[in-house]
Amino acid sequence: MKIAVLAGDGIGPEVTAEAVSVLEALDLGLELTSADIGGVAYKNHGHPLPPKTLEIARAADAILFGAVGDPSCDGLERHLRPEQAILGLRKELELFANLRPAKVFPGLEHLSPLKYEVASDLDLLIVRELNGDVYFGEKAIHTTPEGAREGWDRMSYSEPEVRRIGEVAYRAAQQAGVGLTSVDKANVLETSQVWRDTIIAQNAEFADVALSHMYVDNAAMQIISNPGQFKVMVTGNLFGDILSDLASAAVGSIGLLPSASLGSRQTSHGTYGLYEPIHGSAPDIAGQGKANPMATILSAAMMLRHSFGLETEAARIEASVEKALADGVRGGDLGGEHGCAAIGEAVRERL
Ligand code: IPM
Ligand code: MG
Repeated sequence: MKIAVLAGDGIGPEVTAEAVSVLEALDLGLELTSADIGGVAYKNHGHPLPPKTLEIARAADAILFGAVGDPSCDGLERHLRPEQAILGLRKELELFANLRPAKVFPGLEHLSPLKYEVASDLDLLIVRELNGDVYFGEKAIHTTPEGAREGWDRMSYSEPEVRRIGEVAYRAAQQAGVGLTSVDKANVLETSQVWRDTIIAQNAEFADVALSHMYVDNAAMQIISNPGQFKVMVTGNLFGDILSDLASAAVGSIGLLPSASLGSRQTSHGTYGLYEPIHGSAPDIAGQGKANPMATILSAAMMLRHSFGLETEAARIEASVEKALADGVRGGDLGGEHGCAAIGEAVRERL
């Protein structure tokens, strides 16, 4: 079981170190290899996603990813910015299915900006397509005949692209015994018309899953006003980017949310994937030992489940995080005093 550890920038290294020590405490015989990525990789090797890093990521069964993003790189050309490293990994490794669970942990409802009874209903899995859409279409900045700059980005989805993400979402809904909501903008966009038609046709293969559709603007409103109606949501790259931030803000504790980005390659024990906290590099608190590693620890749990078939161990990590929270262990993001290392230690003690 080979894991590529790509800690990256900002708080990435500190939160990743705690997740690694939780994994090591389980004594599973994992083989870990680290490599540079993001701003630190640019500084050390001249590129945010060096070939060597890509090679290590490819050779592994799973990737544990910290964060990329460094304000000192903001002036670089777009293709050299740290963010390109994660986009490059998603594309190069065909990690097309992003799973972003957003749920309110019991006892933390007060951290949500939503009313208690609305927040306590929130338990949603967003399945976001990651390899297509306007993110990866042709793009350019032109000068119009009138001499004005004009930026354009091509948005598209083909039936096979929609079917493969649809399958991941339908399976997730089927396994959980819940309905699936597909989010699009089919009232305006042809891209969304193909998306919707494809998801509808696919429902024949998953006849036991109740399918509904919602326009993305309405979905944004409903995540805030009535999130309990959503169980599994499937959507494209751009809408998924926005709605998953919305859902995590509704949870109110961004330091607790993990994510998985899965490919189609099967490893000996599961599916090849990349696992990362959704919070980003948080340069303002980097290197101070203040970051909450729980989201990365929970991402490591998702890794054990999806890439290594270790459901029992995954559940043990999740239960330890929940127990630590129930016992009052709180990072600064939750208004508490526990530092990064202390939180890691608290989770390990409860394993
Ligand atoms: C995310 C991030 C990325 C995205 C950025 C860093 C390119 O916002 O993972 O949601 O837009 O997908
Ligand atoms: Mg985002």
